Amino acid sequence: MKPIGPIPADFVPRAGRLAIGGETAESLVARAGDTPLFVYDMDVVERRVARFRAAFPGIDLHYALKANPFVELVKGIAPLVDGIDVASIGEALVALGAGVTPDCLSFAGPGKRDSELELAIGQSVPINLESEGEAERVLAIAARLDKTPQLAVRVNPDFELRGSGMRMGGGAKPFGVDAERVPALVRRLVAAGAAFRGFHIFAGSQSLDADAIIEAQAATIALAARLSDAAGVQPRRLNLGGGFGIPYFGGDQVLDVERIGAALVEAYEARPAVLRETGFCLELGRWLVGEAGVYLTRIVDRKESGGQIFLIVDGGLHHQLAASGNFGTVVRRNYPIAVADRFGAEPEETVNVCGCLCTPLDRLGDQVALPHAKVGDLIAIFLAGAYGASASPSTFLGHGPARELLVRASD
Ligand SMILES: Cc1ncc(COP(=O)(O)O)c(C=O)c1O
Repeated sequence: MKPIGPIPADFVPRAGRLAIGGETAESLVARAGDTPLFVYDMDVVERRVARFRAAFPGIDLHYALKANPFVELVKGIAPLVDGIDVASIGEALVALGAGVTPDCLSFAGPGKRDSELELAIGQSVPINLESEGEAERVLAIAARLDKTPQLAVRVNPDFELRGSGMRMGGGAKPFGVDAERVPALVRRLVAAGAAFRGFHIFAGSQSLDADAIIEAQAATIALAARLSDAAGVQPRRLNLGGGFGIPYFGGDQVLDVERIGAALVEAYEARPAVLRETGFCLELGRWLVGEAGVYLTRIVDRKESGGQIFLIVDGGLHHQLAASGNFGTVVRRNYPIAVADRFGAEPEETVNVCGCLCTPLDRLGDQVALPHAKVGDLIAIFLAGAYGASASPSTFLGHGPARELLVRASD
């Protein structure tokens, strides 16, 4: 038997069944039409936003749409946050379609095509520049369109977020402009008549270490102040990235965001003079939505091989790649998993939960202890709210995409 990750406390058994947003998993599947199904609980997201607001007074909150671009979820989250960060024009169109105003967007990401830049500049969407080359293309397109581009500079910092699952700053990186070259670029933008909006400094993702995040935020503020002094600007905004992780696996700790909030608010109040007019924001994806999602998939076969039990489900890594351990993890470990109709029941057997794809990679539960489950039962895999449906190869082997549903108990 191998451990599973912790089931989020938002989900408790109701009459022995898993309920999401006040409705049983089986009833949600009936409402959606079929399995496999991602269900997102908006109440969980709202509680996350409220927790952020309480812990980070005076600091803006942006949603990193890449975590989950499901349009109903984006519509729900947009009025609760101060901005939406997008990584492609496709994501920008999702946000605009959900009613977000262009000024509340920021468009980061390497490899923006001219056509994407043209659309962004045409709609006055702020762009986080990733290189000097991209800056020149933006300036040329803006001149051609006779528009003033809204520009921030993404800085590749000279430090990393310690212990993060995904390091995105420090050393040679395809993201952002190396810190020492940033002042010259900012001066060039200002001289060209662009509206300079500030800095974007994203050092890493999925950290559960509050001290490491506090340290990275302090380094980010110091770096932004140095760059501003050197460039002779007072930035409007400093986007300090995020990196807030959630516990996926057995033994993972829960991130102490209140401690991070207290430290950041103190640092904001004591910020250097050159940042006096600067608003701070954090851009969060998985911490806001990751725990709100549950992936529901039905058992289509139960078999034995080599003395082990295999539950074969109608979903798999083509929807929930991360739970199969193939999305940036070095060692495969089990996400929290349950039998939806026997939720909270004592484990009775050790099983492997495998997806329907014809590859040994498609394993959603490896040697997990579950109550007895039979063909037709629903399996629930938790922590499916971020980097699930949109971060999985849904066309692989032709089974098609999963359904998605947003629920809230207050509906
Ligand atoms: C620039 C940027 N912002 C935000 C995020 C969101 O990170 P997370 O979902 O871990 O909060 C990422 C993730 O890779 C990112 O690259």
